[in-house]
Amino acid sequence: MAAALASPAVSLSSGTSSIPLRVLCVSVVNPFPLRELIASAQRSARLYWIPINFRLARLTFRTHQDKRERFSPVPRMAQQTSLYSENLPAGEAALALKNVSKSFPGVRALDDVSFDVMPGEVHALLGENGAGKSTLIKIVSGVYPPTSGEMHVHGKPVHFAHPREAQAHGIATIYQEFSLYPELTVAENIFAGNMPRKFSGLVLDWAAAARQAAAVLESLDASDLDVRARVGTLSVGNRQRVEIAKALSRQAQILILDEPTAVLTQHDTERLYGIIRRLRAQKVALVYISHRLNEIFALADRVTVLRDGKFIGVKPAAETNEGELIRMMVGRALELEPLPHLDNPAPTGQVVLRVRNLSRRPLLRDASLEVRAGEIVGLAGLVGSGRSELAQAVFGVAPPESGTIEIDGKPVKITRPEEAIGLGIAYAPEDRQRQGLVIAMTVAENIGLTRIWQLMRGPFLDFQAEEMLARQYIGTLRIKTPSSHQVARNLSGGNQQKIVLGKWLATKPRLLIVDEPTRGIDVGARAEIHRLLDGLARDEKMAILVISSDLPEILRLSDRVCVMREGYLVAEFARRKATQENVLAAAVGQQLNGEKTTASDH
Ligand SMILES: Nc1ncnc2c1ncn2[C@@H]1O[C@H](COP(=O)(O)OP(=O)(O)OP(=O)(O)O)[C@@H](O)[C@H]1O
Ligand SMILES: [Mg+2]
Repeated sequence: MAAALASPAVSLSSGTSSIPLRVLCVSVVNPFPLRELIASAQRSARLYWIPINFRLARLTFRTHQDKRERFSPVPRMAQQTSLYSENLPAGEAALALKNVSKSFPGVRALDDVSFDVMPGEVHALLGENGAGKSTLIKIVSGVYPPTSGEMHVHGKPVHFAHPREAQAHGIATIYQEFSLYPELTVAENIFAGNMPRKFSGLVLDWAAAARQAAAVLESLDASDLDVRARVGTLSVGNRQRVEIAKALSRQAQILILDEPTAVLTQHDTERLYGIIRRLRAQKVALVYISHRLNEIFALADRVTVLRDGKFIGVKPAAETNEGELIRMMVGRALELEPLPHLDNPAPTGQVVLRVRNLSRRPLLRDASLEVRAGEIVGLAGLVGSGRSELAQAVFGVAPPESGTIEIDGKPVKITRPEEAIGLGIAYAPEDRQRQGLVIAMTVAENIGLTRIWQLMRGPFLDFQAEEMLARQYIGTLRIKTPSSHQVARNLSGGNQQKIVLGKWLATKPRLLIVDEPTRGIDVGARAEIHRLLDGLARDEKMAILVISSDLPEILRLSDRVCVMREGYLVAEFARRKATQENVLAAAVGQQLNGEKTTASDH
């Protein structure tokens, strides 16, 4: 008896941090309350506007002491049009790593890797999820010290104990998770910790900050941005331009971008390309990480490939091709992606989800849609067109103000995600870090979250059952982790994304809604996830709604494509009639060739 009681008691008390988290997850079953918490924290931050400014001033004062160079805006240069530098830059590398290794408990994230980037070069870093790309740039940025190896900046050996030291050497990093203060203005963010001053440095010079911020933005062709706008009100693309402006205001000679386009619209992506080419012409050294091979061919001069933390090779982009890079990345020729559903007969299963005139203003207005059992419906549209809002209305995160939802032909009222889960609906959200995961919990705990009640034995959690469930999805989705007990925060970005998918698949839903399912996922895993979704629809007759900004992905997966614009469902295409051109045209509202046009008059 004592032993029987001891074991759960020990497991509960040994993971002290997991007790409150588990209490949290009982109310959670879905993690959206976390989002609410973040939003309310941000709201209350607004009340403390004065202290925030005070903090900014204090921060500025501290860093003023070791400020090395006076600000001078980057000169404006003509846009470079050629795709590749005529000649690879010769001479001394801006940044060079020699035989760098980095170990974490149970993982050798980098193993004897060498890498260099020249002034005026874009050097792409490529590798599967968990290959070690982010670890390498975190070492360069002073986030982690390497376990062994050397690093040189402009020929001089360096050791960074803190990111500030890397910044002082002209290194700026743009992480996928932005590091801006949403409550501060564009100008305040650009100069956070580095404000211009007057009267012998005694007073912050706000006017100069606004002027100089405008000059940096001008040099980036971003003068459309208002330096007084609050960053929290900006689009993701504009926030990223502010991040780049911040890096340039600090005279960055080495700029590192970790998956910068993962969250950008097509338009913002092209604008970013323009900025990158201009910086290259100004002899900035750029390190560029992306899973999208077409971007690498559009931008990079050289490509370095990592696999399992090891250096596999470096190639001039002009002398290689997609096939070769994929072989280097995965160590074998990749099985081709399954073919699109062009010739599949239209699924005739019963209608699982029927949505009529769903509205929740301002982002969702009068959307109607059906998904059948065994069918994959693609939901296309620009970022902000209301796709995620439609999914969140169905899932009870943001219940609709008007309209009806039917599941299996029965009208339902879904006001909370728990009710949606009870009806067999799963929703894998797009923002994995904030909405999809509890990053302080382990892989197994995260996957078990959505099935917490089934995993309970009386008042105790059945750890063995949780472990088995986790192992099953670690295997199916090939999640790269040393064990199911690894904390989610320590996994690479793409592997975190796979946990989000795994955790919702574990609910065995009737209707699966996936929002940007392969954002940040490498080419191999992307094909696997596509195959998995195909299998779930075909073999398990799951109804699947795929939301994606990646049009090839929509066209590859869908039996039917629906397009949203400004909150309306504006077009619907049978698979054969859906082409890149007419889906895009419907999304931007140029011409509507769809079979159905419900919002052409809006
Ligand atoms: N702080 C950490 N503690 C423990 N392990 C870590 C930590 N950071 C990274 N790792 C491990 O190091 C390996 C490399 O991770 P990294 O984030 O560098 O991959 P990546 O190439 O950036 O992948 P992705 O394309 O998914 O972003 C992974 O196995 C990851 O789990
Ligand atoms: Mg990464």
